[in-house]
Amino acid sequence: MLTVVNTAHESTDVTVVIPVSVRDLLPRDLPTCTWSGSATHLRHVERELARAAAGEVDYLAIYTPVDLPVAIGGIDYQVSEEAGTLWQFAVLPALQSRGLGTLLVRAAEQRISNRGLHRAQLAVEENNPRARALYERLDYVAYGREPHAWDEEGPDGLTRRHETMCVLMRRDL
Ligand SMILES: CC(C)(COP(=O)(O)OP(=O)(O)OC[C@H]1O[C@@H](n2cnc3c(N)ncnc32)[C@H](O)[C@@H]1OP(=O)(O)O)[C@@H](O)C(=O)NCCC(=O)NCCS
Repeated sequence: MLTVVNTAHESTDVTVVIPVSVRDLLPRDLPTCTWSGSATHLRHVERELARAAAGEVDYLAIYTPVDLPVAIGGIDYQVSEEAGTLWQFAVLPALQSRGLGTLLVRAAEQRISNRGLHRAQLAVEENNPRARALYERLDYVAYGREPHAWDEEGPDGLTRRHETMCVLMRRDL
């Protein structure tokens, strides 16, 4: 259940309660996921959905009653034989800090357990302390650091290589 409180006008506060559910992200959802990243990013997610169809990854969505995805994230089963690797987790910016990230992580852990695996792991950028704090709150423990790099489309439409250092975290399920 997602609760949105409108405090913009003190005299007319409105609380909206929206039921949400978790399901697999589908190719037809991608046009409504532009909030999660650039066109390049969405093309990348589309390729991951082909891998999901082959069983190599799960790609989850939290969606509202009008079938609008408000949080998405993947689990890759090919990074490690013993663990599911959480990646590309994102919550619609306007709905962050309301528990959706927590719900998505827990749903991902359930998928990992369903495959008979007993560990969830992830890499979080060192300069993303908010995400790292969330994973620590959810009992993930840092066990190392590793450089990562990927192509990123800037606001000018140009693609650049993004190089960063990540903290590796894991949790036994
Ligand atoms: C990181 C991210 C996925 C977390 O999702 P989220 O929905 O904001 O996470 P949650 O709401 O579950 O938890 C975040 C915070 O909200 C708080 N919170 C949770 N439920 C809440 C509620 N009902 N009311 C108020 N606050 C709440 C949590 O205590 C937590 O507090 P913190 O900010 O002090 O850590 C999201 O912020 C995001 O998309 N960030 C940009 C992309 C990104 O960094 N992805 C991670 C890559 S590794």
